Amino acid sequence: MWAGYGLFWSQWRERFVETGALAPSSHHLARSMAAPLTRRPPAPIRVLEAGAGTGVFTEELLRQMHAGDRLDLYEINPRFCEYLEARLNRMRWRERGLEVCLHRDDVLRADLGQGFDFIVCGLPFNNFAPPLVAEILHLLLDSLNEGGVFSYFEYLALRDLRQWFLRSGPEHERLRAIGEIMRGVLSRHEIRRDEVWLNFPPAAAHHLMRRPSAAAVTSA
Ligand SMILES: C[S@@+](CC[C@H](N)C(=O)[O-])C[C@H]1O[C@@H](n2cnc3c(N)ncnc32)[C@H](O)[C@@H]1O
Repeated sequence: MWAGYGLFWSQWRERFVETGALAPSSHHLARSMAAPLTRRPPAPIRVLEAGAGTGVFTEELLRQMHAGDRLDLYEINPRFCEYLEARLNRMRWRERGLEVCLHRDDVLRADLGQGFDFIVCGLPFNNFAPPLVAEILHLLLDSLNEGGVFSYFEYLALRDLRQWFLRSGPEHERLRAIGEIMRGVLSRHEIRRDEVWLNFPPAAAHHLMRRPSAAAVTSA
């Protein structure tokens, strides 16, 4: 477990924009992110995880999955992929009849054509350019099957605090635009929000279902 923390710390310093966190998420946040799977249909499901990092959410997802289900993991950082592969090898998913595929790639290059029943996203949206945030949200919401749920998290109040300290300038404007995109998407698609205080920093897990106009997600 401590190796995972050390790896996060080093990757936060080396690849700050992509990593976006000093430490892996807590098990409490992982449980909130995977909570929609407790209301899963009986038939086999397809699950996508974007930005799997060291696999905290992956482990919780696999715990909830049944024989015949498939999990596609996308992780862009080769160091995290190496760690994740070793962690996956210790989880007994093959014996349980699960299918797991680790894609060492950008989730923007994912084959999303077949659709997913659950999408869990750990990407650090607040570090990205607003058009990229809009593109990813649009893409993932559009990849949900009928009745599917898309979950992502954000650290509580962090974006507002950063904006408040900055007062103005391009970074302030970037964060303001991301806030606007997020509020637009959440007001239309959010079905549930869970605050998780036992995480560093505390976070909100947002759960969304696709409503007809996902295509209307645009950058601010
Ligand atoms: C905030 S960390 C979350 C990791 C893990 N889900 C957790 O909660 O501990 C963000 C992760 O997203 C990955 N990532 C960033 N951009 C990505 C992209 N375009 N495609 C796939 N993974 C990406 C980073 O390498 C990092 O592992």
